Amino acid sequence: MTNEQTLFERLGGAEGCAAIAELVVENHLKNPDINKRFLDSDPAALKVLVRTFFAAGTGGPNEYEGRDMVTAHTGMNLNEREFVSTIDDVLAAIDERGLDAGVRSEVLAILYSFKDDILFR
Ligand code: HEM
Repeated sequence: MTNEQTLFERLGGAEGCAAIAELVVENHLKNPDINKRFLDSDPAALKVLVRTFFAAGTGGPNEYEGRDMVTAHTGMNLNEREFVSTIDDVLAAIDERGLDAGVRSEVLAILYSFKDDILFR
């Protein structure tokens, strides 16, 4: 059997991506490994960027209007622990939404692919 739904659809579409973005930003703000990085961030604005980044990157209809990953993270000198910690926050959000293991591993693979754009810049 082929799965013809996009990852965006399997994430629950626009509503699903919005719910995940909400949880991801809340998780980051509670996460002692990384929350100091977000002291100057506006959570509401960040939720919009995370939502559209997710939706656009998984086959959704909208455009992502934020910065590219190199530009957004340059000057932060982020390390591996912080990188893994942000990904864990996304996986926790996916688990909280009750999404299946296939969706979870596809999202993980996409996020991991940004490693060289984000680390130590
Ligand atoms: C796979 C890993 C990551 C992804 C996909 C990701 C994604 C994003 C996106 C989409 C933005 C918005 C871009 C913009 O501001 O125009 C952003 C901004 C940002 N990210 Fe990341 N990020 C990742 C890892 C990290 C890590 C490890 C940290 C620090 C612990 C971090 C801290 C930040 C901060 C501080 C901002 C700016 C927020 C603001 O301007 O308010 N990110 N990231």
